Amino acid sequence: MTITIRPLHAADDDQAVALWNTVGLVKPWNDPHRDLSRARAVWPDLLLAAADGDEVVGTVMAGYDGHRGWLYYLASAPHRRGEGIGRALVAEAERRLEALGCPKVMLMVRADNEPVLEYYDALDYQRETTRLTGRRLIPDV
Ligand SMILES: CC(C)(COP(=O)(O)OP(=O)(O)OC[C@H]1O[C@@H](n2cnc3c(N)ncnc32)[C@H](O)[C@@H]1OP(=O)(O)O)[C@@H](O)C(=O)NCCC(=O)NCCS
Repeated sequence: MTITIRPLHAADDDQAVALWNTVGLVKPWNDPHRDLSRARAVWPDLLLAAADGDEVVGTVMAGYDGHRGWLYYLASAPHRRGEGIGRALVAEAERRLEALGCPKVMLMVRADNEPVLEYYDALDYQRETTRLTGRRLIPDV
């Protein structure tokens, strides 16, 4: 594997959004380009690409709110699955969060998305029973 994990730059955004569309991470109520701009404005070094040359073959968007670190938009290209790209992205996001003093990393997974929960089981994440609640402040669409 000749993959580099590095910050995802604005020039990579179209590739990242195309990947997210391919793997089903884009939701109708989220504008992915705006998600990228917002994340880059706060934590540019936590928005990561797995790059093979000029090709973006994976992404993860991490953030730190001063209490917990969060992971979003973990994806690897369908034709590059099982190469360890997802694991490498999560490991680098965790490394960067820990370097910021972040004590715990978490992510949201839909309760019925058992395959992704099993994936994170394999990465030593512990399932939690906390329920989430939220309110949209800025509609994207
Ligand atoms: C989840 C995803 C990023 C995994 O990417 P990947 O690059 O194939 O993952 P890796 O190759 O790093 O696999 C890491 C480990 O998890 C294991 N694994 C992969 N998928 C798994 C699954 N569905 N269930 C259990 N274990 C799984 C692998 O065997 C590997 O273990 P190993 O290192 O001991 O061999 C990829 O499947 C994806 O993009 N899915 C669609 C988007 C998505 O649902 N993202 C999560 C949003 S919360």
